[in-house]
Amino acid sequence: MVKKVDKKEAMKKIKPIIQEYFNSNDFTESSKIKLVVPSYGEHEVLEVIDSLLSTYVTMGEKVYSFEEQFSKYIGCKYATMVNSGSSANLLALQALANPTLENPIKPGDEIITTSLTWSTSVFPIFDINAIPVFVDVNKDSLTIDVKQLETALTSKTKAVLAVHLLGHPCQMDVLVDFCEKNDLYLIEDCCEAHGAEWNGKKVGSFGHISTYSFFFSHHISTIEGGIVLTNIDEINQLLKSLRAHGWIRERNDKTELARKYNHIDPRFLFVNKGYNLRPTEIQGAFGIHQLKKLETFLKIREENAKFWIDNLEEYRKFIHIPKIEENIRHAWFGFPIIISEKAGFKRENFVKHLEKNNIETRPIMAGNIIEQPAMNYYKWKQIGPLENSSRIMKNGFFFGNHSGIKQKEREYILKIIQSFLDHYI
Ligand SMILES: Cc1ncc(COP(=O)(O)O)c(C=O)c1O
Repeated sequence: MVKKVDKKEAMKKIKPIIQEYFNSNDFTESSKIKLVVPSYGEHEVLEVIDSLLSTYVTMGEKVYSFEEQFSKYIGCKYATMVNSGSSANLLALQALANPTLENPIKPGDEIITTSLTWSTSVFPIFDINAIPVFVDVNKDSLTIDVKQLETALTSKTKAVLAVHLLGHPCQMDVLVDFCEKNDLYLIEDCCEAHGAEWNGKKVGSFGHISTYSFFFSHHISTIEGGIVLTNIDEINQLLKSLRAHGWIRERNDKTELARKYNHIDPRFLFVNKGYNLRPTEIQGAFGIHQLKKLETFLKIREENAKFWIDNLEEYRKFIHIPKIEENIRHAWFGFPIIISEKAGFKRENFVKHLEKNNIETRPIMAGNIIEQPAMNYYKWKQIGPLENSSRIMKNGFFFGNHSGIKQKEREYILKIIQSFLDHYI
């Protein structure tokens, strides 16, 4: 007869093997400086195995625990974890457009946002039949140029969607004032800005609703994953229904709702429309261990960025690189470089040089989104020529800045950048 092994015993046997595996394998060692490296280890893997052996793999306690920890970390009351950052944006906008709200975003209403952005920061606006109104970005921060807000404002404006692009926080004091003064919703897309702060307060805690992504290439990862945060109870209850089928299960008011509609079985009681955007316990298991590492990861990113900024100072006439700013904490999603128009070389040549030397690069996200073919099918407005966004799309790129890049790698990156720029000095 086969001896029965219980979960505790199995975990005890598996643990040393997993620990040995992670102690003897360094994911960050690679001949290529990748845009992203795996940031998980024995704790995440053991937590996942624990879930798999328990057979509780769909959304449950580990997701709820991560939601609680993450909302506390950001400084928000409520969190709703979902299966991606794009789903988080979709859910956030669907919640704000829900007819049960006193003042929902309606079809034809306008949402001011930036043209230098990510695709799924914009597409959910189309899904609620609202109109994105694109303003340009500030060329230093790559985030919304707040000087254009007043020009973009009309009687139809209902919200501002601010994107903390590449980890640089938007000018939150101006945005909060503008939204308060004009009775607008403030939506923060923080998908690239885990841990970023404006005047000592974390991004994602300023707006009515905010979103994060935990995709593999972000500061912390749940493989795929995202979260929606809010301080407003009514919105939180809505998010819980919209995330899963429109039912009542994760709502605080489920007992009252079951009582109110007592002719329907409460197990399948649908009080609103809904999707299925739920994460799994595997993602929750990752999240609770990844969050503990976020501060260490951020410090490495900060150290790398400071090193490149200090050492690339003399090349500023060819390239635009960020500055270290006093009142913000930059989360350094990557390290952006924008080639000056008068540099005497093209972005393509510079990028080719880096890639040839095994340093991976990417464009600055979707670039000026209005130039993307997908935009031909939908209605949107632009304020002014959006010159900075187009220039950054044409001349900008970024390379990785993550916890796998330490002194040796950052010095190598610097050497390769210098070996290109020194031809032009
Ligand atoms: C600013 C921004 N918003 C939203 C998303 C979507 O996140 P996800 O890839 O998890 O769907 C991304 C993805 O990179 C992003 O950069």
